[in-house]
Amino acid sequence: MEVYTYDFYKKSADYILSKIDFKPEVGLILGSALGSLSDEITDQIVIDYKDIPNFLISTVESHAGKLILGELRGKKVVCMSGRFHYYEGYEFEQLAIPIRVFKLLGVNTVILTNAAGAINKEYIPGDIMIIRDHIKLTGASPVRGKNIPELGPRFFDVTNMYTRELRDLTKKCAYSLNIDIKEGVYFYATGPQFETLAEISAMRILGGDTVGMSTVTEAITAAHCGIKVLGLSLVTNMAAGVLDQPITTEEVDEAGEMASEKLKQLLGEVIEKIGEN
Ligand code: HPA
Repeated sequence: MEVYTYDFYKKSADYILSKIDFKPEVGLILGSALGSLSDEITDQIVIDYKDIPNFLISTVESHAGKLILGELRGKKVVCMSGRFHYYEGYEFEQLAIPIRVFKLLGVNTVILTNAAGAINKEYIPGDIMIIRDHIKLTGASPVRGKNIPELGPRFFDVTNMYTRELRDLTKKCAYSLNIDIKEGVYFYATGPQFETLAEISAMRILGGDTVGMSTVTEAITAAHCGIKVLGLSLVTNMAAGVLDQPITTEEVDEAGEMASEKLKQLLGEVIEKIGEN
């Protein structure tokens, strides 16, 4: 029997909709150490992942396991405080669940943030990079399996997955806030080990600017069901081999916390301006 049916996701969405009296239009999935961005959401309805039928449970300590619904800068939002990664042991198909549930809640735009290592030697920790595109050469697609036509077509275009209008808006907002912003390619690695020196050299040759273990499964799922995507990498460390020192979880978390204020400001502005033209 097919597990991932339209009704499977609808069961999660119906539960969430029964707890709120609005439909969120913007979905937020915040990476490690960036969870505090959700503090700005007003009129919060907080739902534990474990209470949502068919949802997943986060296993990473630094990620909270809650869905926060409410209002942010005039927009109705749903925010995942804590996301799911392949390295936790989920199958790729399971990683499609949150975005498909977002879709059934009414979300039309998602903002995905991540902590990432800088492959590009011109970047430094604390930099924010708009994801223009990604490279995923390992692992399966999150939308493999029997297609669900109510969500999207079997084969689908991903050439505008990281929507240009959202990237342009983010550049404008960064400029008005005097925040230096990069734009580049995010290279997906399954983890949980950080990369080898040779892997980073190869990723640089292939065109990667940042590397990380999240975001792409969500972006692909969003592209399938017609949700616009903005992806942002927060550079928390130089990737393996750029500096003559090992990468530590502590530096990743610290840099994430230090730059989260800047990212919070930027995201607030972007969310306020989404849909304005
Ligand atoms: N590699 C992979 N994922 C990461 C890194 C890294 O260097 N830094 C933060 N997340």
